Amino acid sequence: MEGRPISGLARLRDDFPILSTEMNGHPLAYLDSAATTQKPVQVLDAMDAYYRTTNANVHRGAYLLATRATEAYEGARAKVAGFVNAASPQEIVFTRGTTTGINSIAFGWGLYHLREGDRILLTMLEHHANLVPWQLVARHTGAELVYLPLTSDYLIDTAALEGLLDERVKVIAFSGMSNVLGSIGPIEVLGEAARSVGAITVVDAAQMVPHMPVDVQALGVDFLAFGAHKMLGPTGIGALWGSMERLEQLEPSEGGGEMIRDVGLYESTWTDIPHRFEAGTPPIAEAIGFGAAVDYLEAIGMEVVRSHEESITRYALERLAEVPDLRVYGPDHLSQRGGAVSFTLADIHPHDLATILDQQGIAVRAGHHCTRPLHRLLEVPATARASFYVYSIPEEVDRLVAALHEARRIFGVA
Ligand SMILES: Cc1ncc(COP(=O)(O)O)c(C=O)c1O
Repeated sequence: MEGRPISGLARLRDDFPILSTEMNGHPLAYLDSAATTQKPVQVLDAMDAYYRTTNANVHRGAYLLATRATEAYEGARAKVAGFVNAASPQEIVFTRGTTTGINSIAFGWGLYHLREGDRILLTMLEHHANLVPWQLVARHTGAELVYLPLTSDYLIDTAALEGLLDERVKVIAFSGMSNVLGSIGPIEVLGEAARSVGAITVVDAAQMVPHMPVDVQALGVDFLAFGAHKMLGPTGIGALWGSMERLEQLEPSEGGGEMIRDVGLYESTWTDIPHRFEAGTPPIAEAIGFGAAVDYLEAIGMEVVRSHEESITRYALERLAEVPDLRVYGPDHLSQRGGAVSFTLADIHPHDLATILDQQGIAVRAGHHCTRPLHRLLEVPATARASFYVYSIPEEVDRLVAALHEARRIFGVA
């Protein structure tokens, strides 16, 4: 064991007011960042300032306030585009989050391009957000769902492509980083596989974009969806990136104001990309908060975010290995994983475990984490999950480990 890592980013904690609150008489140890992250004052202030000084509807008013609101909203789009190195801000569609982004591809592309005999290739570790939309579209179109298995070390098994990849595959949709196992997706391999049969690639990047540097132009995929709330931003907003060529093939899956060029009684035409995919009044303050979160992460540097995550995850894996009867589900190698660490402890139900931890002020997630098929594959009904972000410190891992020893004692694990 290499010992406790230096809390390189601990200085950031003062930016997060919630981290100095108490839970059940103990300082909060927030270890559920894979579900949602906490928000720094810089994000809170940006949203507050928008409502206090700039609030107006966007793309409509001819007056100065509306122009400022529109500039702030479009400025946030440019920040998000820069963050993932999109070729232009037009390639960023604001969505409600990862789930909405994937649904808009399933219903805006899948519904129009898939038919009976076609295949949608998914993987066994997908979040329900990247399963259920495809099930719905398969039901509408008659396309078939097929699944890439996992290797014994919890990675997507690309060797299985040999038996599954052929011209029938029209979509390959997969997670860039698993919210349960932490496994990083084999993006280049799956992108290449898709191109070889003319399929599109859809990356569920809900966990990936917040945790590692992402350059969409280098990835060789077609669509990538992520949300702001897992990267220090507010809930209710996310982004769908698509290459311009692919966005042009996408139909709007929501209609209404703001997305049209002209409306007749029986037919309408669409305005330009990306606004044709943003029907109705958008979440303006949330977009501005999203932009502030991007500024915050860029000031840290995504390489630093990633290396902090590697070091805190390494420490967590080492310390959890000290707890008898504890089983971690996920790759051992840090280069293959992010900071979601799911585990079981003897036969203690993860919900009971989470309750014991909560009594010590430690917030972890327990359940199937919206991945029921994966949990069936792991042959457990639920797991407990600790997950980290830029503000996570080794002391929180120490408290988690001490509380797990205590849980063994309380439940009389021999
Ligand atoms: C891998 C993954 N995909 C999709 C989602 C869905 O994100 P949201 O609920 O923010 O739309 C999550 C959130 O937990 C996730 O972890």
